[in-house]
Amino acid sequence: MKIMQVTVQVGRAETAPVEVLVLTLCEGEVLAKEDAALLDRALGGSLRQLVQSKEFEGKANEVLLYHTHGTVPAKRLLLVGLGKKHEVTLETIRQALGSAAKRVRQAKVESFAVALPTVTPKGMTPLDMAQAMVEGAILGSYQFTVYRSEAASGHNVEGMNILIPRKGQLRQVTEGIRRGVATAEATVFVRDLCNHPSNVLTPAKVADEAKAIAKAEKISIKILEQNEMQRLGMGALLGVARGSQEPPKFIILEYNGAKNKDARPVVLVGKTITFDTGGISLKPAENMEHMKADMTGGAEVLASIRAAARLKLPLRLISILPVAENMPGGRAMKPGDIVTTLSGKTVEVQNTDAEGRLILADGLAYAMRYKPAALIDIATLTGACVVALGQFAIGMFGTDQALKERVRRSGQKAGERVWEMPLWEEYFEQLKSDVADMRNIGGRGGGMITAALFLSKFVGDCPWVHLDIASTDWSERERAYIPKGPTAIGTRLLIQYLIDRSL
Ligand code: BES
Ligand code: MN
Ligand code: ZN
Repeated sequence: MKIMQVTVQVGRAETAPVEVLVLTLCEGEVLAKEDAALLDRALGGSLRQLVQSKEFEGKANEVLLYHTHGTVPAKRLLLVGLGKKHEVTLETIRQALGSAAKRVRQAKVESFAVALPTVTPKGMTPLDMAQAMVEGAILGSYQFTVYRSEAASGHNVEGMNILIPRKGQLRQVTEGIRRGVATAEATVFVRDLCNHPSNVLTPAKVADEAKAIAKAEKISIKILEQNEMQRLGMGALLGVARGSQEPPKFIILEYNGAKNKDARPVVLVGKTITFDTGGISLKPAENMEHMKADMTGGAEVLASIRAAARLKLPLRLISILPVAENMPGGRAMKPGDIVTTLSGKTVEVQNTDAEGRLILADGLAYAMRYKPAALIDIATLTGACVVALGQFAIGMFGTDQALKERVRRSGQKAGERVWEMPLWEEYFEQLKSDVADMRNIGGRGGGMITAALFLSKFVGDCPWVHLDIASTDWSERERAYIPKGPTAIGTRLLIQYLIDRSL
């Protein structure tokens, strides 16, 4: 998908000579707003009429497109609701722009102008607002058409121009656009990778994507092949990959924008299973195709390091992707098999479908070599996460209060919220094995928790957060700026965390 061009211009909305002018309006006080009032006068009172007749009420994500018939220079006006004024958040604005961009696309218009919302809830800066607007607009127009032979639904909105009333806001809005484009672009990249089927997006293809990014952004990269993994002793990753014809990869990318080049890095580790059949503990057929997105975490840490490089963030960042395909096969790992992880700890594999924690065990142990200032792993780890949290919260676990708090705040700001779950040692009872240091499943209760606790055994006392995105990673229905299918949720949280950390 070609990414929308976003620009900013100082100017009043009622004088903009554009094809479509987007105006965001709150419920109830549509006409109280100075801007709307000015525009309403210019339009000969039509805005007031639409509101009075309840054709447009300003409810969140409500849209109304109509022709201005020459009353103002804009040919058409697109009203978008923000809901109740005192309830407006960055997420409201993000969604409103998602709804607006979709309507513009339906109308097959090439570009539009949009006035910076005049609502200013406490603590919300023009920078934040512009960033949210750009994210909403770009992500709301997302389409994945690579495999369609007819050029059918292909209309693309090419440009958005943000109108601001005062020159004084220019610097902030420009920076907001820069950040918004970076996070949206990263999200689009992740959605694309997740949409590609596993016969195309193999572990080797993931490695190629990573190489291309490293080259383009001048990030250093190292890819470990099977023989190297054997030499190092990554028995867990190798075990998971055994059933597949596709050789596993272990990808390490490093971006160093820190002033002090030896600064302790932030390390991100992403679960990258290009397809999860369950292995010998085979999954049922229903919905198994979703498991092509079991590499979401890996795609997100890859996109995050690219965004950090593009934004030139002043920090040292390492992204690690353990990559494999989980398949049954003549050589596949079997229930009861014991693997020795990179850390030296042994694991009895009671269920080959609990493969994510196995490849992450080796990924996290490898990450520890960098003595991270902060270690974050992100993974479509457990079905139990979906059961516990539904679609709107990411499961968060961690060992460090300050890090958890930062992640929580960045998630809130990005509109990708986390919910903390307990990482209590009591649960380890469920992971005890009769024959090895631990087993890879914890029985019936607390499946999301026992998975996280399993991972915690590989991070020592490093400040660590684990994010289970199995809940949010796939959407059953289309929302304002989230498509049906892969959502790439987690990407904006990670990038926002990196931005907030480097400020
Ligand atoms: N990739 C799945 C988890 C998953 C399920 C992600 C649904 C997204 C949607 C993971 O590898 C898995 O299979 N987990 C098992 C663990 C179980 C065997 C302990 C699960 O949750 O069923
Ligand atoms: Mn699995
Ligand atoms: Zn999996």
